[in-house]
Amino acid sequence: MFLTLKNKEAQIAVIGLGYVGLPLAIEFGKLFRVVGFDVNTHLITLLKEGINPDTELPDASIADSSVHFTTDTDQLKACQFFIVAVPTPVDEHKVPDLSMLRAATATVASCLKKGDYVIYESTVYPGCTEEICLPILEEMSGLQVNTDFKLGYSPERINPGDELHTLRNVIKIVSGSDKESLEEISQIYSSVVEAGVFRASSIKVAEAAKILENTQRDLNIALMNELSIILDRMQVNTYEVLEAAGTKWNFHKYSPGLVGGHCIGVDPYYLTYKALELDYEPTVILSGRKVNDSMAYYVAKRCIQQLIASGKNLTDSKILVLGITFKENVHDIRNSKVADLVNELLSFGLHVDVTDPKADDAEVFHEYGFHISESIEHVYDAIILAVPHAEYVRKQESDFVALAAENCIFIDIKGVFRNKISTLNYWSL
Ligand SMILES: NC(=O)c1ccc[n+]([C@@H]2O[C@H](COP(=O)([O-])OP(=O)(O)OC[C@H]3O[C@@H](n4cnc5c(N)ncnc54)[C@H](O)[C@@H]3O)[C@@H](O)[C@H]2O)c1
Repeated sequence: MFLTLKNKEAQIAVIGLGYVGLPLAIEFGKLFRVVGFDVNTHLITLLKEGINPDTELPDASIADSSVHFTTDTDQLKACQFFIVAVPTPVDEHKVPDLSMLRAATATVASCLKKGDYVIYESTVYPGCTEEICLPILEEMSGLQVNTDFKLGYSPERINPGDELHTLRNVIKIVSGSDKESLEEISQIYSSVVEAGVFRASSIKVAEAAKILENTQRDLNIALMNELSIILDRMQVNTYEVLEAAGTKWNFHKYSPGLVGGHCIGVDPYYLTYKALELDYEPTVILSGRKVNDSMAYYVAKRCIQQLIASGKNLTDSKILVLGITFKENVHDIRNSKVADLVNELLSFGLHVDVTDPKADDAEVFHEYGFHISESIEHVYDAIILAVPHAEYVRKQESDFVALAAENCIFIDIKGVFRNKISTLNYWSL
């Protein structure tokens, strides 16, 4: 497969051109013939015009790319190496929603031929690729894995907003349905990932590794969040404790915060879903999720308690929330826990203004039902630095003081202004 791709006799198809699929298609497009397929017609129109829908990619990368963008499944029939990178969210009951994965798999199955490869990049629970996707591929195509086509799984490790860790310079886990496919898949991915690949012993191992990476992070943050709640009751600042404990050689550095987005706050539910199916109750993982999912409400509660303690009348109080995206320096607002914080404050009848230099107002309104304030016209009784975008971190105390009413509370969720705020009532997780 590698040689036929290299000689441009075969083509790669990337199914799903989002945060994961688009950069992958662009990278592969530098070496191979690539078809980029998505069901979103507006997205494909933009990409065809060379317009970058994702600000994390260099603007020229789309216009300069040789990738053939399409919504037409017929164009996939000429491809031999299919990479699936569609969303795998959870539903309102925190149950894996595999509808897009199934639909994308059906699209691939309708084009599958002898000799083809199908690689999944979507984050799933261990076993999903072989238990859910493989039967669709086999039944719809009438072909058999390994005899007629090969299967693989290669999880994505991109970290939104992180310019240091990219597709090219982070080791990529690869796996295949047999020895031959593992070698071919390794060779193909190695051609774009300079850091090299790690050959997992099976598809299940590769799936589990991805889920473990994010579950470990989720749980460690949950521990810091719980610690923060306990220390706050003793009026001890968590970051001072972390600084002291961090001097030990084997202390792992994690900090408290809101865990939003579509990876860390979602992926553990894929593992817990599978565990429950196997009749095991994953209490540790679910406890961590519960703590992390409650943090926005905890911050809202502490904000209100402090407003009351400083003699403020709640119905007259004005709150400024800085940042609405799910993490710093990204424009992605999906599953933002800041929205929970804002809505909780609004439910108490407080006046809340939200600003964000990265987020799109229409998207925020569509997703969460409130607007981003175009201009900041008030002085505020509480300023909540919810998302430390670079634009906010560059500010001085005087910038915040200029927006502050008398006796203003400054809530610095991630502790970035610790020891830098002296005239406002400072509080952090
Ligand atoms: N974003 C990240 O940082 C990240 C990191 C690692 C892994 N992942 C995983 O990668 C997968 C993709 O995530 P993402 O963030 O790129 O998603 P995304 O929402 O940014 O993009 C997914 C794209 O898939 C398209 N799509 C949906 N259904 C389709 C279908 N049936 N056929 C073709 N296209 C379809 C959508 O239109 C969208 O453009 C998920 O499983 C996610 O958990 C994401």
